[in-house]
Amino acid sequence: MKDTATLEYNGKKYEFPVVEGTEKELAIDIKKLRSSTGMITLDPGYKNTGSCESAITYLDGEKGILRYRGYNIEELAEKADFLEVAYLLIFGELPSKKELEQFHADITHESHVDEEMKKIIDGFPKSAHPMGVLSSLTSALIAFNPTSVNISSEKEMYHAIIRIMAKFPVLVAWTMRKQKGLPLEYGDDSLGYVENLHKMMFKRPNKEYIKNKVVIDALDQLLILHADHEQNCSTSTVRITGSSHAGLFVSLSAGISALWGPLHGGANQAVLEMLEAIAEDGGDYKKYMEKAKDKDDPFRLMGFGHRVYKNFDPRAKIIKKAADGVLGDLGIEDPILEIAKGLEKVALEDKYFVDRKLYPNVDFYSGIIYRALGIPTEMFTVMFAMGRLPGWIAQWREMRLRGEPIGRPRQIYIGENQRPFVALNKR
Ligand code: CMC
Repeated sequence: MKDTATLEYNGKKYEFPVVEGTEKELAIDIKKLRSSTGMITLDPGYKNTGSCESAITYLDGEKGILRYRGYNIEELAEKADFLEVAYLLIFGELPSKKELEQFHADITHESHVDEEMKKIIDGFPKSAHPMGVLSSLTSALIAFNPTSVNISSEKEMYHAIIRIMAKFPVLVAWTMRKQKGLPLEYGDDSLGYVENLHKMMFKRPNKEYIKNKVVIDALDQLLILHADHEQNCSTSTVRITGSSHAGLFVSLSAGISALWGPLHGGANQAVLEMLEAIAEDGGDYKKYMEKAKDKDDPFRLMGFGHRVYKNFDPRAKIIKKAADGVLGDLGIEDPILEIAKGLEKVALEDKYFVDRKLYPNVDFYSGIIYRALGIPTEMFTVMFAMGRLPGWIAQWREMRLRGEPIGRPRQIYIGENQRPFVALNKR
């Protein structure tokens, strides 16, 4: 017999099925709660709410486990490349060599962006934040690729996925080139996916592009680490936008907007700005620790804390190690790295942070690597979006294929009760 949970209210008992996931996580299935009890649940920030069943990413916040389709993040970051991970996330299995080559070939076939898109980019001031530009461009893509996806056709679904996987790196690169006043160029289809992205971002008009393996490997790893993170704010946004049967590109655009905020992906920019401010202030990070603990001060220690990880963020561990390696390999001495390490050490011993289980998250060290790779601070969250692209696609695809209903939470109304209208001259 299946387990059930009993709810008792007003002398009546109601039974609800208990659902168990493949990793033994438990949930009370309350699909019939409202129809049987007349009540809803109230859970601001959805801290206790499972919005879906998903077979893509598993994470255990207590144990610091993160797996894509069953594979540990540590192993993927070390042994796979970003395109393999993208394929894995979207289609569920690691690709064979032939499948991977076909995936890459199909992507390169679509790696052009309509020239008219350049006019849209032209309309933005150089000072526009790259996340706003990227979100707009991703949405604008639909105007140049207007066919809606027939989700019952695997072929059409595949084609839509290929198109966005191909065009998104161009948009990412152009977003940065626009800001830097560089010509908007295309990539080189003979290169690997990440190397091509890097070339599109950094190729100078009058200089030959020279590959740097340390840089490409670091970028590859960062993209993998960001590739999915189950039902976070931006992913939930992609799923809920797509649940109205809005198309893939606009659902992604909505996700980019959600990612922008400093409590989510925007934290990587905020971390670096915070570390720079501390450096400019003489490097006294203890002062900033006190500010973070002061409940009357809105300042938070950016790059610390996580909704789910309450012991450590496995991505942060990998990135911290990578930051040391990349800076060493590139021969860069960045005083900001020392400030970050000092801040981490103090925070890990501080009662406030220990009691609240606040640990460095993925964004704490990623900006230091991006900076070493020559990526401007305002582009950091764009790089996060680039990494998260396959995760968003996988989640959108899963949501549509499972035929999930339109997302539409309920509320508890706390406003005025019914009252008579008051004419304008009587107010
Ligand atoms: N600095 C100082 N205090 C903090 C911080 C922080 N970074 N994060 C949480 N707290 C405190 C918070 O004030 C609260 O204290 P109290 O219990 O006394 O009221 C307690 O810790 C719990 O915080 P919360 O806001 O209820 O936790 P949450 O799960 O809602 O928020 C978070 C998670 C990531 C939004 C939050 O920790 C935060 O704002 N961190 C800084 C921003 C950041 O680094 N975001 C990137 C997240 S990882 C990348 C991603 O997936 O997007």
